[in-house]
Amino acid sequence: MKEELIRQIDSIENEVRERVAGVSTLDEAKALKIAYLGKKGAVTDLLKEMGRLSKEDRPFFGKRINECKTFVDAECSSLIRRLEGEATQKTIEAEAVDISLPPRAVCPGRIHPITKTFNELITVFTGMGFSVYEGPEVETDFYNFEALNHPKDHPARDLQDTFYLDEDRLLRTHTSPVQIRVMESKKPPIFMIGPGAVYRRDTPDLTHSPKFHQVEGLMVDKRITFGDLKGVMNEFIHRVFGAATATRFRPSFFPFTEPSAEMDIQCVACKGNGCRICKDTGWLEILGCGMVDPNVFESVGYDPNEVTGFAFGMGVERIAMLKYNINDIRLFYENNVKFLEQF
Ligand code: PHE
Repeated sequence: MKEELIRQIDSIENEVRERVAGVSTLDEAKALKIAYLGKKGAVTDLLKEMGRLSKEDRPFFGKRINECKTFVDAECSSLIRRLEGEATQKTIEAEAVDISLPPRAVCPGRIHPITKTFNELITVFTGMGFSVYEGPEVETDFYNFEALNHPKDHPARDLQDTFYLDEDRLLRTHTSPVQIRVMESKKPPIFMIGPGAVYRRDTPDLTHSPKFHQVEGLMVDKRITFGDLKGVMNEFIHRVFGAATATRFRPSFFPFTEPSAEMDIQCVACKGNGCRICKDTGWLEILGCGMVDPNVFESVGYDPNEVTGFAFGMGVERIAMLKYNINDIRLFYENNVKFLEQF
């Protein structure tokens, strides 16, 4: 019986050594461990045999069976650890991210040059104390023309032909109607600018587009003079084009201002020497302006003997073209990324 037990123990150890070498999956390894050390396992069975041994033999076999148990446990556990390690390694390799690959290019959006110019003009005028107002792009004949001293058959309407929705409604040709709406809604003093889109019946070419953008402004209070107009306009030009930029005012005509003027700035390209951009004059026309016509004050219920004021209006595209040296207005509307990327 004792020899039999010793052989059993030896053969269990040999068996385990052999079987461990043949196991390749984690499940098999766990099953192997249970087959020897589980409740009904071969080593557990050996321990049950102990009861049948004599008192003298027990210490020897107790020690020997424990050795066997430790051996089997160590073999199975290290097998399980190795297979678990291999499985983890496989998962890591399968999920691996190559951090040395270059990232996909990010294409950030940019501010459109017209929006950029709007923002700059708004910053300059709000910095001088003007407030910003907006109005509808679909206007009535009254706000776009009549209240601005363009009676129905006035020839000045020809310069601002537009798109009509019906007899009375049209796409506004300038943002001056915003000034009428503001004057109707409040009393002087008024320091305002009206930025926005405007429309005219123009065929697109290098300098014309049926839709373009304007910033117009209005200052109304007691005793506002042409000197105030020149001061504000010069300050504005100096802030946008540089303090050294010379300016001049030429007499002109607008139905809603009297007297009226065109403001020119020294050519930004040739500094006044004469070039193609300024058609050899050394000057560039930049905006229209003038003292608000008394008829306009009357149409909004202001007393022209009480208040005076000046108004001005400029094309945002024109300012942007001069600032960024762009020679074709159509570039602003074509969504050509090569063009837009430069801003
Ligand atoms: N409204 C004029 C235009 O669109 C510009 C302007 C505004 C001129 C105010 C004088 C005073 O051409």
